Amino acid sequence: MISAMTSERVIGTGNGIPWRLPRDSRHFRSYTTGKPMLLGRRTYEEMLGWFTTQTPIILTRQEGYRAPAGAHVVHEVAGAVALAEALGAAELVVSGGAQIYAAALPLAEELILTLVDARVEGSARFPDFRADDSWICQRRERHEADRENAHAMEFQWWRRDR
Ligand SMILES: NC(=O)c1ccc[n+]([C@@H]2O[C@H](COP(=O)([O-])OP(=O)(O)OC[C@H]3O[C@@H](n4cnc5c(N)ncnc54)[C@H](OP(=O)(O)O)[C@@H]3O)[C@@H](O)[C@H]2O)c1
Repeated sequence: MISAMTSERVIGTGNGIPWRLPRDSRHFRSYTTGKPMLLGRRTYEEMLGWFTTQTPIILTRQEGYRAPAGAHVVHEVAGAVALAEALGAAELVVSGGAQIYAAALPLAEELILTLVDARVEGSARFPDFRADDSWICQRRERHEADRENAHAMEFQWWRRDR
């Protein structure tokens, strides 16, 4: 899973991300390049036009939901995992939003988190993954705010020790 959140686990307003951090956007694009991404229908619709080499897999309960060419539709997280395998991918990158992170967390093995040093309001939150103490942080990389990025951030790489 890959996400950016504040220390209060805010990831979004419900229809957008409440910060603009080009450093994090590059990190996100670079990590997802060439990979299948699992996205909630709401996040997918927010991100229309963003995808280049990524293969979006959209999770929705709508039976008749039609995606454009190159995107896929599933109705369960397990269906997305099977589809990513069928596409020959080594990894499925769960990319939000809040409902999808919560649904996929029990199956996740790795978590790439950006901890954003900001206090913002938002209804969408990342699940409390640390309630389960099997997650271990393997690496952290801090970046201070600068002219391009209004907030400091820390990239973190977590892995589950099952
Ligand atoms: N900071 C970050 O890293 C980050 C990343 C991604 C998104 N976000 C933010 O997160 C917010 C959106 O999150 P959200 O929770 O409102 O929406 P979401 O998770 O993107 O999408 C929710 C939709 O996914 C479908 N869905 C959810 N659970 C399902 C299940 N178990 N089975 C089948 N379909 C399911 C439903 O679609 P239908 O209604 O079509 O049935 C539901 O309405 C936005 O503010 C966005 O900007 C932040």
